[in-house]
Amino acid sequence: MSRLLDILGCEYPIIQGPVGAMNSPKMVAAISEAGAFGMLALGFTGSAEEAKRMVGAVRELTDKPFGANLMTMNPVNQEILEVLAESGVKTVTTSAGSPRHLYPRLHELGMKGLHVLLALSYAVKAEDAGADGLVISGAESGGLRSVNPESSNMILVPLVVDHVKVPVVAAGGIADSRGYRAALALGAEGVQVGTRFLASEESPASKAWKDAILECSDGNTTLLPLGNMMMRVITNPKLKEQMNNPETDYSKEYNIMNAPEAWSTGNFDLFPAGAGQVSALIREIKPIREIIEEMVS
Ligand SMILES: Cc1cc2nc3c(=O)[nH]c(=O)nc-3n(C[C@H](O)[C@H](O)[C@H](O)COP(=O)(O)O)c2cc1C
Repeated sequence: MSRLLDILGCEYPIIQGPVGAMNSPKMVAAISEAGAFGMLALGFTGSAEEAKRMVGAVRELTDKPFGANLMTMNPVNQEILEVLAESGVKTVTTSAGSPRHLYPRLHELGMKGLHVLLALSYAVKAEDAGADGLVISGAESGGLRSVNPESSNMILVPLVVDHVKVPVVAAGGIADSRGYRAALALGAEGVQVGTRFLASEESPASKAWKDAILECSDGNTTLLPLGNMMMRVITNPKLKEQMNNPETDYSKEYNIMNAPEAWSTGNFDLFPAGAGQVSALIREIKPIREIIEEMVS
């Protein structure tokens, strides 16, 4: 068994990339039932009670291991950690900032944590802060990105592997067995998959959001500036027009708080569809079990 599988306790080294706007116990359970590692997105969860409800809903559907993602700045993280430990969740991911304050208690509770990061300098710091593993998110990934220049996984994964001792997971650009095997060849012990699971049968994403992924070709995602961060989104006619105008003030045009409404209704002029560059490889909505079995085949 690899070190990563030992931490996750599942059959395949595939972690569900948490996507806040489609947090679904049903989908988390489906991924765990198929042998991978389902992951609740608790980064913006406002109370321990809410976390308990979500974890309980997954537990009703599966007795397989699953985890939860915590955003480091959430003020109720310590309470959420207690709830997770009581519910038998053994592994979490931490993201968005230094996780140093979370690891002592997390380890006291007998849990393991993988820290999600976007650059080598943070990898070394996270290992020093006690992270048991690292999720390396390359520039091709879906989700929030920093405003700094970033490397893609072909560079970032081997670079980080060369500098840390803990197991590394590659996130970004993985949709099938070719991407999965490439990540392992780069030195990762596993992968984290966001967009491919978003475009699955069990995903609660709207039809419009799934269709936008199916229709997205290479070069049709961009990083949307949102103040001190960016989000990878699928371009659309309105956004393309704005991109041609150097005067466009994106933070006035787009508010990330509107993303859940936009993505569930398909009103992508309100906020463009979030997805990774890997959308270009996704041509069919498939059941989760099929996606996972093909990936590890
Ligand atoms: C629309 C969207 C929203 C995301 N939201 C979150 C989030 O709330 N928390 C988080 O840790 N990662 C988030 N991510 C990142 C994913 O968990 C995952 O790391 C990423 O999608 C991997 O890249 P891929 O899409 O190429 O597979 C998001 C990704 C997407 C596509």
